[in-house]
Amino acid sequence: MAKEIKTIGVLTSGGDAPGMNPAIRAVVRTAINKGLKVKGIQKGYNGLINDEIIDMDKKSVADIIQRGGTILYTARCLEFMTEEGQKKAAEICKKHKIDGIVVIGGDGSFRGAQKLAEAGVNTIGLPGTIDLDIACTDYTIGFDTAVNTAMEAIDKIRDTSTSHERCSIIEVMGRNAGYIALWCGIANGAEDILLPERYDGDEQAIINHIIEGRKKGKKHHLIINAEGIGHSTGMARRIEAATGIETRATILGYMQRGGSPTCKDRMYASIMGSYAVDLLAEGKSNRLVAYKDGRFTDYDIDEALAMTKDINDYEFNVSNLLSR
Ligand code: ADP
Ligand code: F6P
Repeated sequence: MAKEIKTIGVLTSGGDAPGMNPAIRAVVRTAINKGLKVKGIQKGYNGLINDEIIDMDKKSVADIIQRGGTILYTARCLEFMTEEGQKKAAEICKKHKIDGIVVIGGDGSFRGAQKLAEAGVNTIGLPGTIDLDIACTDYTIGFDTAVNTAMEAIDKIRDTSTSHERCSIIEVMGRNAGYIALWCGIANGAEDILLPERYDGDEQAIINHIIEGRKKGKKHHLIINAEGIGHSTGMARRIEAATGIETRATILGYMQRGGSPTCKDRMYASIMGSYAVDLLAEGKSNRLVAYKDGRFTDYDIDEALAMTKDINDYEFNVSNLLSR
């Protein structure tokens, strides 16, 4: 028989993402409306181990739907990677009578969620990362806001780049994943898009492309470079030396992680937050909420973490076609 859940906890873990607050709000309000108690666990797994836990009511999530970041704070926690840390966390759950937890974070956070589930705490994950790099889902909380923030910034860089007839390299986030770079590359009409999953390091090809563009009368050349490739400043110096065209590098950095969530991030995060509570109320554990093929669904975390994901070839080919 499924375990009856009376008190749930919610935490955010790993890199923050715009939309985490709407997700927390949905978890809290859905749970309370179902007659459950809700505890907010601060600073990810750190707060669980160190007992930084607060009672949450409907009012504690008022006025946050439009706010970036996470009101519960987030962190990375080395201690939770150890068996001892996981044991401590499970004991704290017992102390607070927490029988279910919603973990909002990325792949790393879900590996932690697996451990909690093994320790007998029913656990549900929500995909929260600007990187879109969770294999089982076509949507992750924060990606839409991050790409819109980056796109607007790149439009501004394009203006000044064109005025000065310069080449610009813009580095966007994504340590291992090129989704932000691909989307901005297409949306900003970039001439070159460098993705960690595809880039072969052929700088000469980029240089040739810039020179060809100049010959055709192009006034600017935008290169979107993913953080996972990096070295944008050095690349700019080498391109300028090889082409004689002034080249500037801009690293967009953490601005991509902040800001008010877009409508899509607020809406999807809200639905996913409610969905997570529904799963807990049904006695489910070790599941991950996802958006796949046009609908909200859920996967076993073990299966979800075994899945792989790659840049879509058709989208990548289109990005190349449109930049030439
Ligand atoms: P993200 O969730 O964004 O991928 P991280 O990979 O940094 O971010 O993971 C967030 C936290 O999840 C880590 O600091 C750690 O506390 C926990 N975690 C990651 N991997 C594991 C693991 N294999 N076992 C237990 N906990 C883990
Ligand atoms: O996971 C999101 C992300 O923004 C990555 O794109 C980036 O590489 C990383 O987080 C940076 O994290 P930190 O906060 O540790 O610098």
